[in-house]
Amino acid sequence: KTIAVLFGGCSSEYEVSLISAASVIDHLDTDKYNIVMIGITRDGLWLRYSGSIEDIRNNRWHAHASCIPSFISPSREIRGLIELVNTEFHITPIDVVFPMLHGKYGEDGTLQGLLELSGIPYVGCDMLSSAICMDKEIAHTLVQAAGIDTPRSITVFEGENIEKSVITAENIGFPLYVKPAKSGSSLGITKAYNKQELLKGVELAFSHDKKVVIEQNIDGFEVGCAVLGNSDPIIGVIDEIELAGDFFDFNEKYSLKTSEIHLPARIDEDTTNKVKETAMLIYKTLGCKGFARVDMFLTGDGRVVFNEVNTIPGFTSKSRYPNMLRSSGVSYPEILDRLLQLAVL
Ligand code: DAL
Ligand code: MG
Repeated sequence: KTIAVLFGGCSSEYEVSLISAASVIDHLDTDKYNIVMIGITRDGLWLRYSGSIEDIRNNRWHAHASCIPSFISPSREIRGLIELVNTEFHITPIDVVFPMLHGKYGEDGTLQGLLELSGIPYVGCDMLSSAICMDKEIAHTLVQAAGIDTPRSITVFEGENIEKSVITAENIGFPLYVKPAKSGSSLGITKAYNKQELLKGVELAFSHDKKVVIEQNIDGFEVGCAVLGNSDPIIGVIDEIELAGDFFDFNEKYSLKTSEIHLPARIDEDTTNKVKETAMLIYKTLGCKGFARVDMFLTGDGRVVFNEVNTIPGFTSKSRYPNMLRSSGVSYPEILDRLLQLAVL
């Protein structure tokens, strides 16, 4: 089987994607799979790559990438893919695309739509589910309609009267999280303790997205579920994030300087079952397939509150998703095998 692994991309999580993809390529069994590596630069060039895995991880991959001249076009994403389909893919037919891309144009349904149009099987959630999960407002609305607790929030669109929204937000009570509706790895997110921070946060969030969500802070801690499968998914061991500071921001996520991830989460059996049931309901409600990491909060009074779903979760060898499944007996290479099988169903 020929597998095309996509890495990089136009999103703010470009570097995370490089590390995730390097790890995926490293763990794909080369006796079983013929691997085609395709790097996407920050400004959207699709390049066939044939260098080392280390140079992907270090972001030195461009030096060993070949650019097909017609890739450089105003609509780079689309032209790039179609060129690949017409040329590269016909020489080496691709059986499955494995997009190891986070955020915009990789995890948000756009690429998934393009692959659906192209008739190429791909790993992970489909176009609709990816788009829904990427947008925090839409995901929260659907999850709430399924009867699951969500944080109170308000949505602000670019060009709207921000003062009016701020007054409504203040009624929710500080601290408040200000988030671009579509973001990942906490980029563009602020935890605001007062009106001034809130306004600054809104401005920052608008530099990432045209839609911003102002969200209630949930007293409690975050737990995650690694879900794997289509119609009958499995869930790995639940993990728990113990924060030393008060916000799990980008630096903290990838350095874990003060925070700690507990695997398994320090919760009793009843709570474990409740968290797993909620994660499963969220996965089904949002139409997920293949894989996703479902993030939730657990409150002091035992409520499970939805946070978000990551349809292409971090996949470095230290990342939460593969670790949670490894703890339940599914090794990293086995996760990859299963994902590739699920993609061709
Ligand atoms: N968005 C990052 C990659 C994650 O969810 O792990
Ligand atoms: Mg995320």
